[in-house]
Amino acid sequence: MANNRTYTMIKPDAVSAGNSGAIIKMIEEAGFRIVSMKMTQMTKEIAGKFYEVHKERPFYGELCDYMSSGPIIPMILEKDNAVEDFRKLIGATNPAEAAEGTIRKLFAKSIEANAIHGSDSDENAAIEGAFFFSAVDQY
Ligand code: PPS
Repeated sequence: MANNRTYTMIKPDAVSAGNSGAIIKMIEEAGFRIVSMKMTQMTKEIAGKFYEVHKERPFYGELCDYMSSGPIIPMILEKDNAVEDFRKLIGATNPAEAAEGTIRKLFAKSIEANAIHGSDSDENAAIEGAFFFSAVDQY
């Protein structure tokens, strides 16, 4: 994935609350092009692989349970400075610390049910995008 791309997924809380449309609108209005998008549901095993980097953290099991508890909407997004600009758009991991107007401030319920994921580096954006989408989907 080029440096101008990032990977995101709308999390189960936001999908089940019917906030996907509003979140996608915010993403597009912020200037991101949707390169790839689908709705899917991870098994706990697949969530465990996706979040393997966090396996030593105390919340790893809960995070994997949560992220496999319902449908998610994975997307690859394109924009100049995509990773950094997208992290600004979504706000802090803990919605109590998220800035006004960010996606997490508006839609997250808790540090676990925090509406949306955003890759933290270009390298991880490429790895995470390839986890969910084959090369042919990343047009
Ligand atoms: S980040 O985005 O990697 O800087 O955030 P980080 O704080 O390192 O958290 C990594 C992911 O773990 C989730 N998280 C939690 N889940 C459940 N319970 C607790 N306490 C908790 N703390 C953090 C957080 O939402 C991050 O998920 P992603 O999918 O990366 O946003």
